[in-house]
Amino acid sequence: QLMIRKSDYFSTIYVDHEVTSTQKVAHEKLLDNSEPFIVISEVQTAGRGRFNRVWDSQGKKGLWMSLVFNPHIPFAKIATFNLFISLAIAETMRDYGVNATVKWPNDIYINDRKVCGFLTEISGDSAGVHHIICGIGINLNHMPADFPEELQTTATSIALERGRTVNRYAFFEALYQQIERSYNQFMTLEFSDIKEEYKAYSNIWGRTLRYTEGKKQIFGEAVDIKDDGRLIVRDEAGNTHQFISADIEMQVD
Ligand code: BTN
Repeated sequence: QLMIRKSDYFSTIYVDHEVTSTQKVAHEKLLDNSEPFIVISEVQTAGRGRFNRVWDSQGKKGLWMSLVFNPHIPFAKIATFNLFISLAIAETMRDYGVNATVKWPNDIYINDRKVCGFLTEISGDSAGVHHIICGIGINLNHMPADFPEELQTTATSIALERGRTVNRYAFFEALYQQIERSYNQFMTLEFSDIKEEYKAYSNIWGRTLRYTEGKKQIFGEAVDIKDDGRLIVRDEAGNTHQFISADIEMQVD
């Protein structure tokens, strides 16, 4: 039996050895009035990423989890949720001695390699949001050989960066406590209150990158983040564009 310190916010923590996807399990467990809960699994046989990509999580090297929150907020407030959560994840990693930075809107990098991605889904109705289902994938103890060929030069793990493996459950506890704090901030503050801190954690300034959102694709340099969480990017011709949730290609410098 695993010992997990009780969370203040999440009423239940479901710990699995193997699931298809913690995100799928979280959706299945979700009822109209569900209290907040977490699903965590050692292995996912069908992990998924943003834009319907496959999320490689077959080995027992990572932290694969989905957190379900039950805020009652208007849809407009959701836009900045990812930015508060990004800081929680990056801060937890920094406590482990690695230089984690955030890539707007929902990735965490170390030394220009991706160590974590997450996706945020919502359930609600015309009255607003009922639940946020946030699926977080973190490469904890991967060694280079654990990554598939195509990720060899773009992915990393906390263990690789700090030269020492990480205790999964200690990291998990530290993380969800940090996430509880960030979530409280999300509920009580505005993004403008943490914007300068967020910008200081961000790794996209001062570089020309490729930004894709739907059919739109530009090369440009991020210049600021608006109080509503939108990213402002200046293209090579000097025109500015605003993105709500772009896919940013890091390695085009
Ligand atoms: C991305 O960078 O594209 C987001 C990846 C999100 C992966 C996590 S792992 C736990 C949860 N379950 C899933 O199937 N996906 C998310």
